[in-house]
Amino acid sequence: MRSTFAIIHLRNLKFNFNQIRKKVKGSKVLAVVKADAYGHGVKQVVLALEDLKNSPEFYGTALTDEGIEVRSITPSKPVLVFEPLSVDNINQSIINDLDVTIFSESHLKLIQKFLLPKKIKVHIKIDTGMGRLGIHHKDAVEFIRRVNKIENIEISGTYTHFASSDKKNKKFALIQLERFKSVISTLKNERIKTGLVHASNSGAILDLPEANFDMVRPGISLYGYYPSLETSESFELKPVMSLHSEIDSISLKRKGESVSYGQLWKAKEDSYIATIPFGYADGLNRNLTNSMNVIISGKYFNQVGRVTMDRICVNLNKTKFKIGTKVVLLGNEKDAFIDAWTWSKKLKTIPYEITCSISKRVPRIYR
Ligand SMILES: Cc1ncc(COP(=O)(O)O)c(C=O)c1O
Repeated sequence: MRSTFAIIHLRNLKFNFNQIRKKVKGSKVLAVVKADAYGHGVKQVVLALEDLKNSPEFYGTALTDEGIEVRSITPSKPVLVFEPLSVDNINQSIINDLDVTIFSESHLKLIQKFLLPKKIKVHIKIDTGMGRLGIHHKDAVEFIRRVNKIENIEISGTYTHFASSDKKNKKFALIQLERFKSVISTLKNERIKTGLVHASNSGAILDLPEANFDMVRPGISLYGYYPSLETSESFELKPVMSLHSEIDSISLKRKGESVSYGQLWKAKEDSYIATIPFGYADGLNRNLTNSMNVIISGKYFNQVGRVTMDRICVNLNKTKFKIGTKVVLLGNEKDAFIDAWTWSKKLKTIPYEITCSISKRVPRIYR
């Protein structure tokens, strides 16, 4: 196996899941495992969650293909696919018993056109302000009334998605919540079937308990990160992924000598430079050039020179390490600590992008 690898700490995944369970009390939990479980490996993540006594009631994926993969791991748990129903995915959705997302007239036509062998399970998505997918909240009641009249549809759920539940200022999230509640209460008053009502992503789970409804949909919090730096940290989370490598070469650079492409770094004094086999083909963002650290023996060392496809260089200064010395890229050792937020802050991104970007070239070890 490669000397560069990710450890997926399944114990932390289970810890995070239990934290979410405790926080949302009576609501069901749909574990979002799209994008290969945010880069952690969908198979092992689902198996670990299924191992729990209070395992998730639902799984959620972005793509039908991802839903099919989850179905092959858990033969009977409901799986909701967030991408819209289409002519390309309707057959596979039925065959694999996936719950589908619908929100337009064209979806209803499609369902009526296909001779379905059994009822199709749908979740109706309402756009309360995300502005991406969903029936506009003002048109939602009328649409859902019609959906209720279609024979071969089983309404399993009605949902919306928050655009900014991770902001400190919850003004817009509360507007979305009011719009959603108004649709749901009209439907309930008219005794129109909604199935499971759900809205909350991680930001809302942390900070908007009034949005829990029948089910919540955590993604990033499962993997141990708060969705932004603005939410409360109302329950503890533990990062699930750590990244490790080792020194694979060491050379002495004399004062003034440069390192890596473009001569972006030059030694200010005679220094030992280590190379570490982790580069942008492994998912490290090239914009971290000259601005990240790694941990060796519990101490921080600066990465220097251009991040390349297969390697980074690290300034060991005068310290004499051996080839094969372990390096922590993401994780902690003694008092030193680097997590996906450390990189995210420098890259103006979020931990979602960091964990999803770690490429297949990096083996995952499950513990
Ligand atoms: C429809 C839907 N629900 C829930 C989530 C989970 O969001 P988060 O990872 O912020 O918890 C996502 C992720 O983007 C999503 O697309």
